Amino acid sequence: MASHDPNRVIIFDTTLRDGEQSPGCSMTPPEKLRVAKALADLGVDVIEAGFPAASRGDWESVQAIAREVRGPVICGLARCNRDDIEKAHGAVKDAPRHRIHVFLATSAIHREHKLNMAKSEILKAAVEGVRLARSLVEDVEFSPEDASRTELEFLAEVVSAVIEAGASTINIPDTVGYTTPQEFTEVFQYLKRHVRGIERVVLSVHCHNDLGMAVANSLSAALAGARQIECTINGIGERAGNCSLEEVVMALKTRESLYGLNTGIHTTRLYPTSRLVSTITGMMVPRNKAIVGENAFAHESGIHQHGMLKHHSTYEIMRPQDVGLSRTHLVLGKHSGRHAFRDRVRELGYELGEAELNRAFEEFKALADKKKELFDGDIEALVLRAGGDGGPWHIDALWTSATSGAAASAVVRLRHNDGRAVEQGATGDGPIDAAFKAIETATGLAVKLHSFEVRSVTEGEDAQGEAIVNVVHNERSYRGASISTNIIESSAHAFLEVINRILSTRSGARPAHAQLSADAATVRAAV
Ligand code: KIV
Ligand code: ZN
Repeated sequence: MASHDPNRVIIFDTTLRDGEQSPGCSMTPPEKLRVAKALADLGVDVIEAGFPAASRGDWESVQAIAREVRGPVICGLARCNRDDIEKAHGAVKDAPRHRIHVFLATSAIHREHKLNMAKSEILKAAVEGVRLARSLVEDVEFSPEDASRTELEFLAEVVSAVIEAGASTINIPDTVGYTTPQEFTEVFQYLKRHVRGIERVVLSVHCHNDLGMAVANSLSAALAGARQIECTINGIGERAGNCSLEEVVMALKTRESLYGLNTGIHTTRLYPTSRLVSTITGMMVPRNKAIVGENAFAHESGIHQHGMLKHHSTYEIMRPQDVGLSRTHLVLGKHSGRHAFRDRVRELGYELGEAELNRAFEEFKALADKKKELFDGDIEALVLRAGGDGGPWHIDALWTSATSGAAASAVVRLRHNDGRAVEQGATGDGPIDAAFKAIETATGLAVKLHSFEVRSVTEGEDAQGEAIVNVVHNERSYRGASISTNIIESSAHAFLEVINRILSTRSGARPAHAQLSADAATVRAAV
């Protein structure tokens, strides 16, 4: 990452930390590892892999990423206390290049209402936290949380002190998405004038999207001297989300003559990475979302289509291929061979190992027997779901029956990884309700259904239906999704995926309200 190009912007991805923290976006450890590998292929410079002190499960995920993912710096978040910092260190230390990211709120609102700490106490805790982190690793980032609502003088004082204590990256968060491009420019300009040693550190920016300005604010900060942008795939994150990686990167690339800045992102991997994160988290990308939305490169009106036919630059400022969107209406069917399948998978931007490819091809063949034509959406769905069925429970068989005017019934036969087999019947308002009830009884886990939807993956009467199930369990939301040409089957599989997710996160579960924001006790606990 060490680049001597003064115009190189470091892309710090926090999909696995700030993104994963948002409701309904939780990922299992294998999913986090898969996303981290995709982020490395995308070319991000730093992966914030998680908040190791949040739970044992988070710690283990960060450690697995630190051990297995090569390329980016692997970073762990920590509050300003010894336990957090040591846990972050333990989790990231096996990565060849690792970082501890220490944060502490500085604004009057947070000092008074959340921390109940005086300015002098904040200053002391921040310095001690950074010093401790610096005694463990060379690469330490510090964030004054809620910086954009902090008195500028105090902000400069804290930042000067943590630089002296050894921080090498200073991140300025707009934690609540409150600032504006012009105001944020002034914050950076002020810091550059008033912070001692600022020329020795990388200035970073971290914006939330509450007023829809996260990308604009991040770009303003970059113009004002920030050389690290913190962002997430698809802009997922707390509340309205974080700065979207694909948007900020493509803004820098498309308007390079204006910004004069560059990144190391392989932009053709943006679309596949976006699809992977959306599939894993269940956070649908809106059709009109910039860069990766389904309509981002679609031209519907006659005038636009006419212009596009004359020259694509009339209505297109980026080429879809530049972001890895290479969809065609090329159709595969049951006579398509392994080579054609593999080529299409590659053209769509996915690289599968031999074993995964073989399994996906088998599934492709099975699907081609049920469905006349297979579109890009079908192939993508097969590839993105590859490797997702780790259990512990699996459906071996499902029978349902429904007659109008009478209760529906379902019988499910489940198999557990430990060898157990359970057959269970139930009745319900419809066959899907009955199947869900049978699964709950068979697995012994009752959940509260929050939402359930079925949508078609592609066009056509024989299109596959994707079922998405959201439930609440112990105050946390979980989701599951599955696809099939039979929507009762996809619904049952999606429901079982939710149950599996709950069971597999139980051991390392993070408390219902993960205490990300430090309270006075956790900060004061001797650093
Ligand atoms: O939004 C925020 O302030 C954060 C910090 C932990 C950097 O996520
Ligand atoms: Zn944040």
